[in-house]
Amino acid sequence: MARILSSLVLLGALAYACQRDWDALHRRAHLHHGHNKHAKRASIEYPPALTEVESILVNSFDNKSISDWSYYYTHGDHLGSHNKTMAEWTAQKWRDAGFDAHLAEYPIYVTYPKHSSLTLIRPDGTTHEANMNEDVLEEDDTSSYPNRIPAFHAMSGSGNVTAEYIYVGRGTRADFKVLKDAGIELEGKIALANYGGIYRGTKVHNAQDNGMVGCIIFTDPQDDGEITEENGYLAYPDGPARNPSSIQRGSVRFSSLYSGDPTTVGWASAADSPRGDVSDYNPSIPSMPLSMKDALPLLEALQGNGVTAKEANRSGWAGGFSNITYDSGPAPGAVVNMNHFMNGWIAPVWDVIGVINGTSPDEVVVVGNHRDAWVIGGAADPNSGSAIMIELANAFGKLLAKGWKPKRTIILGSWDAEEFGLQGSTEWVESHLPWLTTTAVAYLNMDVGVSGPRVDFSGSGEIQSFVIEQMKKVLFPEGWGEFETVYDMWFNTTEGTISPLGSGSDYAAFYQNGIAAIDIGASNGKTDPIYHYHSNYDSYAWMSKFGDPGFRLHAAMGQVLSLILYHIADDALIPWDMPNAATVLQAYLSELNDTVADSDFPDLDLTPISSAIDEFTEQASRISTIAQQAIGFNDSVILAVVNSKFRDFARGFASAGGLPGRETFKNVVSAPGIDNGYGADVFPAVTDKINAGEKEEAVAWIEKTGKAVRRAAEILKVGS
Ligand SMILES: *[C@@H]1O[C@H](CO)[C@@H](O)[C@H](O)[C@H]1NC(C)=O
Ligand SMILES: *[C@@H]1O[C@H](CO)[C@@H](O)[C@H](O)[C@H]1NC(C)=O
Ligand SMILES: *[C@@H]1O[C@H](CO)[C@@H](O)[C@H](O)[C@H]1NC(C)=O
Ligand SMILES: *[C@@H]1O[C@H](CO)[C@@H](O)[C@H](O)[C@H]1NC(C)=O
Ligand SMILES: *[C@@H]1O[C@H](CO)[C@@H](O)[C@H](O)[C@H]1NC(C)=O
Ligand SMILES: *[C@@H]1O[C@H](CO)[C@@H](O)[C@H](O)[C@H]1NC(C)=O
Ligand SMILES: *[C@@H]1O[C@H](CO)[C@@H](O)[C@H](O)[C@H]1NC(C)=O
Ligand SMILES: *[C@@H]1O[C@H](CO)[C@@H](O)[C@H](O)[C@H]1NC(C)=O
Ligand SMILES: *[C@@H]1O[C@H](CO)[C@@H](O)[C@H](O)[C@H]1NC(C)=O
Ligand SMILES: [Zn+2]
Repeated sequence: MARILSSLVLLGALAYACQRDWDALHRRAHLHHGHNKHAKRASIEYPPALTEVESILVNSFDNKSISDWSYYYTHGDHLGSHNKTMAEWTAQKWRDAGFDAHLAEYPIYVTYPKHSSLTLIRPDGTTHEANMNEDVLEEDDTSSYPNRIPAFHAMSGSGNVTAEYIYVGRGTRADFKVLKDAGIELEGKIALANYGGIYRGTKVHNAQDNGMVGCIIFTDPQDDGEITEENGYLAYPDGPARNPSSIQRGSVRFSSLYSGDPTTVGWASAADSPRGDVSDYNPSIPSMPLSMKDALPLLEALQGNGVTAKEANRSGWAGGFSNITYDSGPAPGAVVNMNHFMNGWIAPVWDVIGVINGTSPDEVVVVGNHRDAWVIGGAADPNSGSAIMIELANAFGKLLAKGWKPKRTIILGSWDAEEFGLQGSTEWVESHLPWLTTTAVAYLNMDVGVSGPRVDFSGSGEIQSFVIEQMKKVLFPEGWGEFETVYDMWFNTTEGTISPLGSGSDYAAFYQNGIAAIDIGASNGKTDPIYHYHSNYDSYAWMSKFGDPGFRLHAAMGQVLSLILYHIADDALIPWDMPNAATVLQAYLSELNDTVADSDFPDLDLTPISSAIDEFTEQASRISTIAQQAIGFNDSVILAVVNSKFRDFARGFASAGGLPGRETFKNVVSAPGIDNGYGADVFPAVTDKINAGEKEEAVAWIEKTGKAVRRAAEILKVGS
């Protein structure tokens, strides 16, 4: 029972790595965290009134320049550890804008396929071999690059296995349970899962836990909303539907258990670092991705065998091919050979760090985006964000040229090797942790800046209201419906919902160490051109024809990010809404309360958390009043005290030893769901212990969580 409710929360709490899935986005709309269900366009002026500095920043964004930066990033291999030149180019661009910039190198564990083939052998002896590369398209220049990256799962296990295979729906624990309950033998077989719902590595983990010897994950048309060939849309490059040969690459590390380099979990990776074994963190069985086109023959061969989709009665089980029954199999004599061998070794990766020193050096704002991509292109993931970051640096360069100096130090991060498991950002945080703990005010993440027009953000409670105000200041480009400002599009997309942070992009290491954070970007909705996520068609050609023709969504997202960064860096008072932080905690508590009510331990007493939140609410309200007075009187002494408390209070949420069983996740307020991997659980340690059936441990973590919230309240407290 606890699982059912908490999976609602999980669906409601997506913070997708490089993917903002429309389906989940729409399903979560009934959950509202915090008070941000604003009446539409309540307080917006048209056109938005900007200060002089805001105008300089906003007017600095040029779609032609952004297109040029995008073109550069999307025309060379830049998989993690592959391209130091691109790191140096980025550093030089930031220097040209007026930043100090340097490379930070970390040696990390990387994997690459040595040999990879996947063959269906039907009962009649005929075979079908899957293609591990997308089709070459004349209209898409990088699709034919000789050094293009084959489709694989980073951190996969190795093996040459030949076995019957079983369709397992989305590959959740509940999906596997349906099969076991129906008496289907899973051990020794290969799992065939669709990509929907949960993080891919969790599917592999579940297959491995059930004694299966391999895992194949395929793209199903059900992920594509209304924009399918069956609905009459042409496939890319002729139209907005998915090209059937597109393949979703991705890491299958166990992302809810750790972030960063799996050989140095919990400490920074240097040349002489001790290194641990990766087997607890990565799958041992081989895992491979598959295109829609190559999945069809596998699904067809199972028809008429095993559990039917109707019997399974599971969400996302029956997919989008109308002529496929999605029976589980196995089909006697239908086998797959996965001949998949991975190499793993230690290789250097390069973060780029850009700096403008502030006048208050003990206050730092970090804004980051990863640079590495799964494919030659990466036009959306992540280089829409990378192109925006250069234009953002140029915008701040215009202020610097006028003699401006920010109050707080600004750091730009261009992270490497995010796609393997947040390595670049995590190692940088781990190697600067004492300094970040004493100085960091906030971390702002932009991974996929633009893969479509639907604006969305996740983030911690204190920062939400301020981000919403900045979105009201930026005009939304024409051509995507009747939306005057970015705020209008955001509200239309989310109905005011803001998710907690889970894992899945570079904010994880910051947020988990108690640093305020947001993750912001724009993605495709169910009526927009489909996005070829982690596929060779996430290219400049696709972006300039379908994703963002004219690069004006890029400009709008960059304008918003610049305003957010500017105000956090330079306002006399850090613009936190502390009462909202309290409201958000209260909303999370009511989710936890629901989880408890539906669990095996409905009598669990949550008073230690609720009374701590009451205390937090009291201190949040008091410090807000003091902050407003300090602004009114321009009292620099009190402002300095309030700012230091706004900077520090969230450190209280970080539990020193980490959450149970996963030491790099520390934030007691939210963390990736163990069984989901991307989306967040709220009060995760308590939720984990309830789901594990460990009542005493759940009680202990209710105490510890309450203490953490009290620590945060104590830091906020002014006077005695
Ligand atoms: C690095 O990326 C740049 C820009 O995309 C490209 O020109 C260059 O060929 C790449 N280097 C390698 C080694 O692939
Ligand atoms: C992989 O397994 C197949 C089937 O068992 C066998 O024919 C083939 O020789 C094996 N290949 C390698 C490289 O071990
Ligand atoms: C299918 O599952 C839903 C709950 O997920 C349940 O309400 C419904 O009765 C089930 N249908 C059948 C035919 O078992
Ligand atoms: C299902 O439809 C696809 C085209 O969408 C076709 O290639 C395939 O052969 C069909 N399969 C069956 C079992 O009819
Ligand atoms: C910025 O501050 C740091 C630390 O105080 C210092 O090492 C560095 O030289 C400064 N950079 C510039 C450009 O002033
Ligand atoms: C979003 O926009 C669509 C089309 O413009 C409209 O039908 C819908 O009601 C809007 N939804 C919200 C929540 O504003
Ligand atoms: C920039 O936007 C304008 C319209 O505002 C458009 O005409 C132009 O083609 C765009 N430039 C690029 C490089 O896409
Ligand atoms: C928790 O749930 C119970 C019912 O299970 C309800 O009586 C109580 O008011 C809820 N408390 C909070 C803080 O939501
Ligand atoms: C507030 O005081 C500082 C000096 O402490 C001064 O530089 C600043 O201009 C004042 N701001 C306003 C709005 O008066
Ligand atoms: Zn990404």
